[in-house]
Amino acid sequence: MNLSQTILGVTFENPTVLASGIWGITAASWRRVAENGAGGVTTKSLWIREHRGHQNPTVISTEHWTLNAVGLPDAGPEKAREEIGEYMKDKPVPLIANIVAGAVDDFVAIAEEIVKLSPDFLEVNISCPNVDDEFGKPFACSAPDAARVTKEVKAVSKSIPVFIKLSPNALSIADVAVACAEAGADGFTAINTVGPGMAIDLRSRMPILANKVGGLSGPAIKPISVRCIADVYKATEGKLPIIGTGGVYTGEDALELMLAGASLIGIGTAIGDRGQDVFRKVCEEMNAWCEKEGIKNIAEMVGGMHKELASRS
Ligand SMILES: Cc1cc2nc3c(=O)[nH]c(=O)nc-3n(C[C@H](O)[C@H](O)[C@H](O)COP(=O)(O)O)c2cc1C
Repeated sequence: MNLSQTILGVTFENPTVLASGIWGITAASWRRVAENGAGGVTTKSLWIREHRGHQNPTVISTEHWTLNAVGLPDAGPEKAREEIGEYMKDKPVPLIANIVAGAVDDFVAIAEEIVKLSPDFLEVNISCPNVDDEFGKPFACSAPDAARVTKEVKAVSKSIPVFIKLSPNALSIADVAVACAEAGADGFTAINTVGPGMAIDLRSRMPILANKVGGLSGPAIKPISVRCIADVYKATEGKLPIIGTGGVYTGEDALELMLAGASLIGIGTAIGDRGQDVFRKVCEEMNAWCEKEGIKNIAEMVGGMHKELASRS
């Protein structure tokens, strides 16, 4: 079965992609992910200057969900240049560079730096609080703010496609997606973590995470990611590619996100539970399901639910 996907001119041998923030720190770790069957890798979020993360404990997991408040630690652009430069020497699979900032000017500054390294796509994490907003509302929760970031990053991205990473916490993820599409977005990643959530230790009566709250990921969020992907696909008429991310553990999960509208599939939390070769396992499971159902090309799954709904209306 043909699992490959060519998205905006970039060929991924299979649709699985390492999600941002999990393992995506060094050239060696990206290569290792590629060796374990990923079709592409995403860097963790890169800032224009060194950014300190939160104090430990930063992660707590159950079999149903993970809460993380890692706090996007990053050593700054010099380290990014070193690691991405090293990876690009003999890039085994496409690289998606994820950037983040708390102000539009900083988004532009980090985009300019990273574009010089020629990643295959830029992924813009707009889930951070906007320091210029009166209440520090994240860019991802305001269609005009998200559109402004998109427009300014697009102005410096040259020929590198810009994917906007959307948050399920927006009142209407569809409105944010449409505003970003009108501002020039080439694609979307949906979704970032949900929440925030909190977990309390019964004996100490204290929040388990030092940051008290954290973003929710893993199996529990899959129905939310499926709905968000479907909303974004419908609102943008399936014209822009979506990297569907959120709660994917199995090949059938991946296919479900594809039916909602995803062309590529981000995998993060599942690495901790199913092992580093989760990418290969998910591909084998997709393959087995498609062969059983007589599907020859994975691309025919993309947006399948929308086509089915239309054919029945
Ligand atoms: C430990 C951890 C760190 C993360 N760091 C980032 C990050 O640096 N940038 C980002 O855009 N998303 C980050 N995310 C969000 C993931 O990329 C992904 O959108 C989310 O976890 C949902 O996918 P999953 O259920 O497969 O993990 C992080 C998630 C986790 C669990």
